[in-house]
Amino acid sequence: MRAVVVDSAGQIHVESRPGPVLPGPDGAVVKVEAASICGSDLHFLEGHYPIVDPVSVGHEAVGTIVEIGPEVTGFAVGDRVLVSSVAGCGHCGGCATHDPIRCVQGPQIFGTGLLGGAQAELLAVPAANFQLLKVPDGITTEQALLLTDNLATGWAAAKRADIPVGGSVAVIGLGAVGMCALRSAITLGAAKVFAVDPVEARRERAEASGAVTFAPPSAQAIREATGGLGVDSVIDAVGMDASINDAIDAARAGGTVSIVGVHDLQPYPMPALGCLLRSLTIRFTTAPVQQTWPELVPLLQAGRLDVDGIFTTTMSLDEAADGYAKAFSRSGEDLKVQLKP
Ligand SMILES: NC(=O)c1ccc[n+]([C@@H]2O[C@H](COP(=O)([O-])OP(=O)(O)OC[C@H]3O[C@@H](n4cnc5c(N)ncnc54)[C@H](O)[C@@H]3O)[C@@H](O)[C@H]2O)c1
Ligand SMILES: [Zn+2]
Ligand SMILES: [Zn+2]
Repeated sequence: MRAVVVDSAGQIHVESRPGPVLPGPDGAVVKVEAASICGSDLHFLEGHYPIVDPVSVGHEAVGTIVEIGPEVTGFAVGDRVLVSSVAGCGHCGGCATHDPIRCVQGPQIFGTGLLGGAQAELLAVPAANFQLLKVPDGITTEQALLLTDNLATGWAAAKRADIPVGGSVAVIGLGAVGMCALRSAITLGAAKVFAVDPVEARRERAEASGAVTFAPPSAQAIREATGGLGVDSVIDAVGMDASINDAIDAARAGGTVSIVGVHDLQPYPMPALGCLLRSLTIRFTTAPVQQTWPELVPLLQAGRLDVDGIFTTTMSLDEAADGYAKAFSRSGEDLKVQLKP
């Protein structure tokens, strides 16, 4: 099968690899129909994490079950499914909460070496009952792809930002994750919405969603726009020292900073005294993907959560190198790229 691979020099190519075998009696093999590129895939290219062996990448996939183990219940060959980007064993007390991060075996993410990459023709899915969701009625392919990761991330970021209904929020970073967080914050009742990104065309997308936007660093402008107070809640969807500092500075005293941007391996020099003196709550979150589905699916089906326009670009899997270059450019035109095998 063809798969997108990143080698140790950070080069992307499509190569032929052996097809996956069924990963145990509770697993399934999914024939991928669409897989998307996430900002998290770009960390490999940016050299944030060392790569020892070439990695088959990607963790956002929608497809059809082509093989299924005897212990999988409620699914059959031919079912159209979406696959959670974060996997758990599916059988422990942690997984019983539907948050794969709590799995006692440690959560695993597709496409980081331990599990196969989703940007491929076939994907082996262990503990299929836990990882899979049949694509629900009325959910588009793009919405299904967002449910595997970015919308779950943005939704969890907004919920864990404790935005008071009628309150104020700032979203820092306006890639697909930031846009999902922005739309989630609005659905959750934020009244005053600020959005921050260096790329003007990305800010314009947020303005079209009702946000007042600034280029970073934004804290001073956000303070001025809130009578010197700062905002109730800040979401970081970037994960760099500069963006986290900006988030902390933009929050009001007693406010909440909710971080979902993925930092590199270096420690973040946290301004602990300032955070203490201003009684900030700071939360870090990996998307509790499976846990978000019962909330997000009905909201999408009812049209109460809008994710239109987040997917901008469709390419064939063979064009993955170009697709990554587009995602890496962080332009306004290419906000979110999907690859079709
Ligand atoms: N926590 C999770 O579970 C989870 C899940 C998915 C993605 N992520 C992470 O979320 C982040 C965003 O992902 P994405 O797919 O939207 O990526 P992206 O690269 O498209 O978006 C990042 C955005 O941040 C902007 N940016 C850069 N520096 C900035 C600054 N100082 N201030 C404000 N904006 C700045 C960029 O212009 C870009 O628009 C990545 O770090 C990704 O790894 C986390
Ligand atoms: Zn991701
Ligand atoms: Zn588990």
